[in-house]
Amino acid sequence: MSILDEVHSLRTEIEKDWAHIDSIESLENFRVKFFGKKGKVQDIIKKISLLSPEERREAGRLINEIKVKFEELVQERKEELLARLGSDTYDLYITPRHLEVGNLHPLSKVVDELLDVVTGLGFEEVGLNDAPDVEWDYYNFECLNIPPYHPSRDMQATFFITDKMLLRTQTSPVQVRTMLQRKPPIRVVHAGRVYRVDAFDATHAPCFYQMEGLYIDRNVSFAELRGTLEVLVREIFGEKAEFRMMPSYFPFTEPSAEGQVRFGEEWLEIFGCGMVHPQVLRNVGLSPEVWSGYAFGLGIERIAMIKYGINDIRLFSDNDIRFLRQL
Ligand code: DAH
Repeated sequence: MSILDEVHSLRTEIEKDWAHIDSIESLENFRVKFFGKKGKVQDIIKKISLLSPEERREAGRLINEIKVKFEELVQERKEELLARLGSDTYDLYITPRHLEVGNLHPLSKVVDELLDVVTGLGFEEVGLNDAPDVEWDYYNFECLNIPPYHPSRDMQATFFITDKMLLRTQTSPVQVRTMLQRKPPIRVVHAGRVYRVDAFDATHAPCFYQMEGLYIDRNVSFAELRGTLEVLVREIFGEKAEFRMMPSYFPFTEPSAEGQVRFGEEWLEIFGCGMVHPQVLRNVGLSPEVWSGYAFGLGIERIAMIKYGINDIRLFSDNDIRFLRQL
């Protein structure tokens, strides 16, 4: 077989294989087989180069023509196949990956909502920096008119750290701290954790949340307290919520009251409240002849339980994701 015949038969083989290329892989196999460094075209070129100039002219011209033509075709085909592969990779109709989105804890939501309402009434929020969980007995009890042997200390079983330092049993010490720091008129609100030695059951927890409001000015009246609480109740439980105030007792208010909201047949205590006791005013250096005020406290868990229909306070701290997702 002459070298020219060999070139012709190689061209036939190349054209035959070319017709079957249908993928990037088959194209690459084709390129390596014929046009690679050790490919068939290179083999023939080597052979041709050994021939005399006359012999090699025609074969050389022909193989060069084949080489140039197919290198171009291979490049074109490659771009075509890659473009097709691209549109396969980006499937615009694929179902998107599900993204997990977090949300606020139900207690945080209730706190935010309450703070929104109360600050909307002109109360300024006192943050955790001015209201520590680890508190002095003096602020938690004594300044609030609860001296060491006062029986009302039994109402709130306390985690003591030393005999003078404790985990606050209520947010009311924030009243004292604020009155010592600021000059009236004072209108503040604070929400945070409180602690009591208590069984951990469906309705008790050793740590829970309270919110506290305090208003001090000249001539503050009980009616203003009532009006404020009514607004709060409407905002939390709706326009139709029924609210009433019943006499109660707290050492740091006089008179003291319980703010109750009606649910079906039952009246539930929502607020402890009253007019700031003259002795408390004196304890922080304010004259009860000049200054007066009201204060109120409420339990956040209780409100969240009513709002979301939850019957076990432990659910808030169990961190069961199934529960938290429901709300
Ligand atoms: N600190 C009280 C408690 O934990 C609630 C309370 C009652 C807060 C009367 C007040 C208040 O500000 O005036 O039971």
